[in-house]
Formats: sequence, structure tokens, C-alpha cells
Amino acid sequence: MIYTEPACAKLNLSLDILGKRADGYHDLRMVMASIDLADEVTVSFVSEPGIQVSADLPYLPRGGGNIAAKAAERFFQETGLPPAGLSIHIRKRVPVCAGMAGGSSDGAAVLRVLRRALAPEMTEERLEEIGALVGSDVPYCVRGGTALAEGRGERLTDLPALPPCWLAVCKPPCSISTPELFSLVRLKKLRCHPDTAGMIAALERGDLEGVARRMYNVFEDVLPRRYVQVFEIKSALLGLGAISASMTGSGPTVFGLFRDREPAEQAAEVLRGQFGSGVLCRAVGSGRHSFS
Ligand code: C5P
Repeated sequence: MIYTEPACAKLNLSLDILGKRADGYHDLRMVMASIDLADEVTVSFVSEPGIQVSADLPYLPRGGGNIAAKAAERFFQETGLPPAGLSIHIRKRVPVCAGMAGGSSDGAAVLRVLRRALAPEMTEERLEEIGALVGSDVPYCVRGGTALAEGRGERLTDLPALPPCWLAVCKPPCSISTPELFSLVRLKKLRCHPDTAGMIAALERGDLEGVARRMYNVFEDVLPRRYVQVFEIKSALLGLGAISASMTGSGPTVFGLFRDREPAEQAAEVLRGQFGSGVLCRAVGSGRHSFS
């Protein structure tokens, strides 16, 4: 049996940090949207035991070090099903270490495939619970679409889809360690917080400008100076006609939100020239878990 599953990237329309927890994690409040930039994850059931992972990018971890393999191991541990031999291949399209949950989304794609193949009676909630044992962003990636993520990121509430728009997405060459960035956050020193309730109300009204006005990621406040490109890309996007621009997750990827396709496409092209990366994307709904 061979299954091919898309693993969509996510963007943070907002990211707020509410507090530090006793378990070392942070309580978050984030509005996330899945986009049509996706890895292609192929899961083959094979006769040899064990879980093999390969990818078209040579530097991705193989075998047990890859989150796709960790997700499969967790699935078998949690369900008690006999571990199947799996060969997982990832065609990487989502930038790595980019704040777009590329790795988490690969893990979530593996979980969806294993449920479909081996445990079709399992609820979505149970699959998300297993995802939470793999990584904080995995439950959201299991579900996809536009959602509010709270707690570590595992408490999810579906939200109305982002109104029709175009996104220009740019991952500069620098990369940021997520734990390092969290360690730089001093909660009392954060200068502002996103208006999450206002953003949810704007989504409910289908008000794109209202969403755009409230896009904000508190990590931008603590970025070390060496990540100046994040702000250069934001300025470039606004100069190129974006209604709004923000960093996603723990960065360094920045995206601009546009009402129309043409300026978004031009912006992606300009960013490709200036920063070596620029992709035109659209938001996708939670049902977009198959290739069309
Ligand atoms: O859960 P995950 O392994 O993806 O998290 C990676 C790191 O990000 C954690 O080790 C932690 O340092 C940080 N993190 C956090 N609070 C969260 C999510 C992640 O501090 N809610």
C-alpha cells in the first residue's frame, strides 16, 4: 500500500505569548492559516520491519531523527497496533527551519495516513492528541485550515477561513532556533500584544482589512539585531503594496497579505531577486488534505 499526502505549511496571522509554564513551555494564543505550499509525503507499507525516512533534501534527518518517523512511532505506541514496516519519502517544498511548521506538517501527514490505513474509526481529536505527543504544532497540522491555537499550541478552535486574498512568502537565508527565541522573551517587556479577539471578529465578518490591521507576532519584538532582514522584507512587502506583513512563528519567514494576485506575484518576484526566496501562495481550508 502506498499513500501520498500533502503536508501544508502554516502562517501565523498572529502570535501572542501569555506566560511561561511550569513544564518549561509557554502558553500561546495564535491564529494560524494553512497555505497551499506543501511537502508531498509518501508512506509505503513494506515487508521489512522498522521505519525508514528519505527526502529529496540531503540534509534532512533520516530514520528516527525525523519528526515523520517520530510521529509513526508514537502512533503505534499509542494505539497498541503492531508496528508496520514503513518507508516514508518527503518531497520538500516548505522551507526548513522557517516558522512554517514544515516538519510538524510532515509528521501530521504521516499520522493522517496511518489513521486512514490502520485505524479509520479513530476520531480526529484522538489523532490530534497523539500529535501533541510529537510536537506542539502537530495537532494544528493534523487539522489544518484557519484556527485559534492556545495552550502549548494544542488547544484548537476552528475559525472562519481567511477571506480570499494572496500571500507573498519570503524565507531569508538566516535561520533562528525556536528555543533560543523563546529564551529571549521577557513577558513584562513585550511592548504590545496582538488583538486576537479583534482578529477573530474580523474573520467572522469576512473583513480582510480588519484581519490585516491586527496581524502581529510578539517574537518580532525580541529578534536579535542579526535578523534585520526580517524587517527589511516587511518594509519591502509594504512598499510593494501589501495590506500588511508579519513574521510567521519563530521566523525568519515573512509574509505579506494582498487583496489582488498581480501585486502579490510581483512582490514574490522582487523578493526572490533581493532575498533569494519569494513564493506566491493562497490560504487553504482544513479539508485540503488531498492533492487536487
Ligand atoms: O513542542 P516542540 O518540540 O515543537 O517545541 C520546540 C521548543 O519550542 C520547545 O522545546 C520549547 O523550547 C519551545 N516551545 C515553548 N512553548 C511552546 C511551544 C514550544 O516554549 N508552547
